[in-house]
Amino acid sequence: MNTIVNGLQWGDEGKGKIVDFLTESADLVVRGQGGNNAGHTVIVGENKYILHLVPSGILWGDKMNVIGNGVVMDPVGLVAEFEKLRGLGVTITPDNLLISDRAHVVLPYHRDLDAAQEEARGKFSIGTTRRGIGPAYSDKATRCGLRLADLLDAKLAHELISVRLKDANQFLAAHGLPQHDADEALGHVEDALNHLRPHVTNTIPVLHEAWKADKNIVFEGAQGTFLDVDFGTYPFVTSSNTTSGGACTGSGLPPIAVDRVVGVCKAYTTRVGQGAHVTESQEFSDYLHGLGREFGATTGRKRRCGWLDMVLLRFACMVNGVTDLAVTNLDGLDERDEIMVCTAYNIDGLENPFPPAQRDAWDRAQPIYETHPGWKMDTSGCRTWDDLPKNAQSYLMRLGKLAGAPVKYVGIGPDREQTILL
Ligand code: IMP
Repeated sequence: MNTIVNGLQWGDEGKGKIVDFLTESADLVVRGQGGNNAGHTVIVGENKYILHLVPSGILWGDKMNVIGNGVVMDPVGLVAEFEKLRGLGVTITPDNLLISDRAHVVLPYHRDLDAAQEEARGKFSIGTTRRGIGPAYSDKATRCGLRLADLLDAKLAHELISVRLKDANQFLAAHGLPQHDADEALGHVEDALNHLRPHVTNTIPVLHEAWKADKNIVFEGAQGTFLDVDFGTYPFVTSSNTTSGGACTGSGLPPIAVDRVVGVCKAYTTRVGQGAHVTESQEFSDYLHGLGREFGATTGRKRRCGWLDMVLLRFACMVNGVTDLAVTNLDGLDERDEIMVCTAYNIDGLENPFPPAQRDAWDRAQPIYETHPGWKMDTSGCRTWDDLPKNAQSYLMRLGKLAGAPVKYVGIGPDREQTILL
């Protein structure tokens, strides 16, 4: 059984935990897109692990993990992540982690270009993580990026970087940022690349062999549907396809290899960075932050919180082909008297069940809400559907109905055990 796990909102839905839960019966976990802009938090016993590039299957010890061709990989960041995980007792070797030789590499100038582009955008800035993700993906698309395989030949890599920097340095100079050269860029990543080399291989046959041998593969999505470069709230998106199609193009496994798509959403909506958020509520944000919840795993930024937005979820279930819904953070709503659910947007007097494409329509969209009674009970100790209060059950049933996909998993806390399977 091969399963894609995708975020249905703006990232931070708690995918790391659901992937971890599904990984128990998996042989292989693959990441197919994104870079170390992602932050997946997984809590096992006393330990809290924050994963950026390493697939969460690494925490199990006996699973193979693959960083696929669709990922953009910062070698220094990845080695730092290895060290942090090893410090927590996690074993990482080429026997349990492979990296595609086709993955593009994030180099120091990509981070500076990210900063310069943000500055150049002025009032249109996106609020990126400044990890160089957009510039690395645009270099890939404009065919001046470097793949890991290119970096194995230092002479060729030097030439390719020198050509790329002619143009990049002009842009950086115009924004008062330091100039880069190929020696410095290669010097910066040299140790990290030496460290990673044993893990680098053609991962595509490895994945196909696993598929043909009926192994269980989990595709671990990063970010969420509305950060997808095609389906998200463009231009306030990341630079990859975060939806289920990205799992195939980012790994080399074809659509027919996929058996199910688990879509993960929070029981409410959060977003970091700029861009539309129709159900955003300052009162609800303050409430969740007051509980110590909803701070970004990668940047520590406060997430912007709002009520559950079914306009987003309805569309996300369509484009991802969600077969099973996983609703996380239900316990975040435990103390609320009433809970709102946005069922459609009112844009210029018209009711819209789907997200608009025009940028300015998002600013005019007014949420149309229905109100549900809260359950005013601590759900974090619930372990079965029947343990959940009736009002929480009705809320989840309504959510599944509006989304057009059945709820199969409910998260009521960060621990592995705090997951209810329906
Ligand atoms: P970038 O991916 O660094 O280019 O940032 C583009 C947008 O995506 C910004 O609003 C980021 O905050 C957001 N973003 C990128 N990765 C994540 C993630 O893993 N979770 C939530 N937001 C993200």
